[in-house]
Amino acid sequence: SANRSLLILPGDGIGPEVMAQVGRVIDWMERRRGVRFEVTEDLVGGAAIDKHGTPLHDDTMAAAQEVDAVLLGAVGGPKWDELPFEQKPERGLLRLRKEMDLFANLRPALCFDALVEASTLKPEIVSGLDIMIVRELTGGVYFGEPRGVETLPDGQERGINTQVYTTSEIERVAAVAFELARKRQNRVTSCEKANVMESGVLWRRVVQKLHDADFADVELSHMYADNAAMQLVRNPKQFDVIVTDNLFGDILSDEAAMLTGSLGMLPSASLGAADATGRRKALFEPVHGSAPDIAGKRVANPLATILSFAMALRYSFDLGEEADLMEAAVQKVLATGMRTADIMQAGKAKVSTDVMGDSLLMEMDKLDG
Ligand code: NAD
Ligand code: IPM
Ligand code: MN
Repeated sequence: SANRSLLILPGDGIGPEVMAQVGRVIDWMERRRGVRFEVTEDLVGGAAIDKHGTPLHDDTMAAAQEVDAVLLGAVGGPKWDELPFEQKPERGLLRLRKEMDLFANLRPALCFDALVEASTLKPEIVSGLDIMIVRELTGGVYFGEPRGVETLPDGQERGINTQVYTTSEIERVAAVAFELARKRQNRVTSCEKANVMESGVLWRRVVQKLHDADFADVELSHMYADNAAMQLVRNPKQFDVIVTDNLFGDILSDEAAMLTGSLGMLPSASLGAADATGRRKALFEPVHGSAPDIAGKRVANPLATILSFAMALRYSFDLGEEADLMEAAVQKVLATGMRTADIMQAGKAKVSTDVMGDSLLMEMDKLDG
């Protein structure tokens, strides 16, 4: 539709710094391409705690349910680490995911040619890497009951979390993985620990059954998650699509980040179920966090958030051409040798967040002709 509504939640730490660069890209889209967004900005995480006493105001939650897409920076920081669990900044993000029912978290790990030397792994291991991790995002140990910390009769404390998955929760995320694979290299690796967890046994069985019934054309293999962690650094190019649970997906995607050169490069899309018109609720965010160690220094890499916005263009706004243009501009900027400080590569110019943004817009100008 011509009315493209976007809720921007910059959040905490480097969140607002990297989101400012997306703001410039949004202005560019209107100025150069006539693509206009109806943008609302609001608070989440620590910033919302400071203003409202809660990491996500109900009005913000309601707005998120209404818009075409939500774009989030990052939440959290030392200032709020001592708060009771339910009041922490991270709860704001978890509430968004849960109440919007964003069960499929797409975390692509793509190694740009210019960053082959920036990975901690050998160039031949990562060059041309293009994998997609599909992380289940609204279930598992993140949300399972019972949970909590209780005091035992002997005075000890006991912390409890529960890993739970139902058939339908596994089926719907596996279906997303199979569908994505069909548009890629047609291979899915499903990761769990069926050797020690009953939920893993069910996961494996449900994925296999769905495959045999509806996706037999896709090549499916199963792998224990610990082995997958090892295989990701041994030979990551063996993977096309990885589908896994909430916690394993969190860990494997941070691991995959280092295959691409930096956590500062990794975008993500969190999607809900398609409605009758094919529209999915969606939230886009970088895989990284609020990076308190560098917040306020204007050195954060904005590219993960910029690439998350490109994913929003593609998945929520049907603006594939604009997304392609942004991704091509990212490649060009990296090819010029420009690097933010998180990218470990000798002999390259270290630039600030803003200069990275300047250069990106310049390359977008050139590509737009
Ligand atoms: P982090 O991702 O914030 O930082 C890990 C390391 O990567 C740090 O050294 C940081 O400086 C660096 N880094 C991350 N993003 C970068 C970028 N764009 N540019 C340059 N360097 C970057 O993880 P953490 O330190 O474990 O967590 C910090 C806070 O962020 C915690 O409160 C955590 O809960 C929160 N967090 C939030 C999200 C989110 O909002 N989605 C994700 C992860 C962590
Ligand atoms: C992520 C983060 C979050 C998670 C936290 C901040 C709740 O690590 O998005 O990867 O664990 O899912
Ligand atoms: Mn994480």
